[in-house]
Amino acid sequence: IAHGKPQRTPAWWIGKREPLLASAQHGTPRYVYDLATVRARARSLSASTAVDRCFYAIKANPHPAILKALVGEGFGLECVSQGEFDHVFASLPDLDPNRVLFTPSFAPRREYEAAFARGIIVTLDNIEALQRWPEVFRGRTIWLRIDLGHGEGHHEKVRTGGVAAKFGLPMTRFDAFIDEARKLGVRISGLHAHLGSGIEDPQHWRGVYAHLAGLADNVGTIETIDIGGGLPIPYTPEAPEFDLALWRGGLDEIKAAYPRYGLVIEPGRFLVAESGVLLLSVTQTVEKDGVRRIGCDAGMNALMRPAMYEAYHGIVNLSRLDDEATAAFDVVGPVCESSDVLGRGRSLPLATDEGDVMLVADAGAYGMAMANSYNLRALPVEDVIE
Ligand code: LLP
Repeated sequence: IAHGKPQRTPAWWIGKREPLLASAQHGTPRYVYDLATVRARARSLSASTAVDRCFYAIKANPHPAILKALVGEGFGLECVSQGEFDHVFASLPDLDPNRVLFTPSFAPRREYEAAFARGIIVTLDNIEALQRWPEVFRGRTIWLRIDLGHGEGHHEKVRTGGVAAKFGLPMTRFDAFIDEARKLGVRISGLHAHLGSGIEDPQHWRGVYAHLAGLADNVGTIETIDIGGGLPIPYTPEAPEFDLALWRGGLDEIKAAYPRYGLVIEPGRFLVAESGVLLLSVTQTVEKDGVRRIGCDAGMNALMRPAMYEAYHGIVNLSRLDDEATAAFDVVGPVCESSDVLGRGRSLPLATDEGDVMLVADAGAYGMAMANSYNLRALPVEDVIE
């Protein structure tokens, strides 16, 4: 194509231009998810022999069709709130509770009670909860989330380890937690760590497994090691594609060194980001002091990632995909905030005009999930295609 993100392997949406334009006629802003892409990403992960179980982090995109597709691929589902696990069982009433993992942060007591009542796997990440609510945890089996002391990821706001982060039991409290658990008859059957999101080094997960396996050997009751999610996708034209072969090879090696534990991963973004596009309609085009702007009917209200993390998403004019991209534009939304910019200095067709359909790529993860109604703008609608 003439403009936008050069695709390593052409994105699914290039071949689906006509149906996408047709669906945009039914209203924008609109997210469209391609389930075939979700399934392909799922298979690329589950093909790894070292990985025993995959849980999809549904916070990335809880659309029921996506949950069903991934459960159909053998995935479990990772939830961070009662809202999420209630939604999972409403969408999939027959799902085995053992395929649902609850990994909350600072959740209220009643959500732990509800999770135990459902029979799903519960992860705890601080000792104070055990001390404050002994009756909730007494005699239970849990997984323990550990802070390995540092965070990783594409932006400081998504790093979940180290003193500045609220997540995880610090190593300094590890022995105290084990003692407290023993006193309450709490069995720790899993160790968990998730250091952040959008981690580029394929060897990261191997290191996490090695670290947790070393600890697990001293606990004695550990069966499962959960090395978190955080697998990246290449959003920018320059970003390298994630080296899955290297990732897999590292896990194979470390699993061979510590074969006793079941290895669990819980990716979100990697599975769904590339499956989703956000379709917007152009409202106005403006030139101010030499800066050209394309205004769309949604911006940071539909997709927070650029405003919140300075994240890059490819943007094309789907109505003029074959036109040459000859001009630089800022692509902005209608929200009354200067941060309401989806992309800066993007090459797009000069003829871009009111009513054109703009496509924002790689928006399937943390797109609709983080959309809001700021300025009383309507939430995007969602479509799923096979
Ligand atoms: N497990 C836990 C405990 C998590 O907190 C997360 C994400 C995941 C798994 C899945 O991470 P993933 O594989 O998707 O990187 N809104 C941000 C990302 C926040 C991630 C929150 N936790 C963004 O749009 O970049």
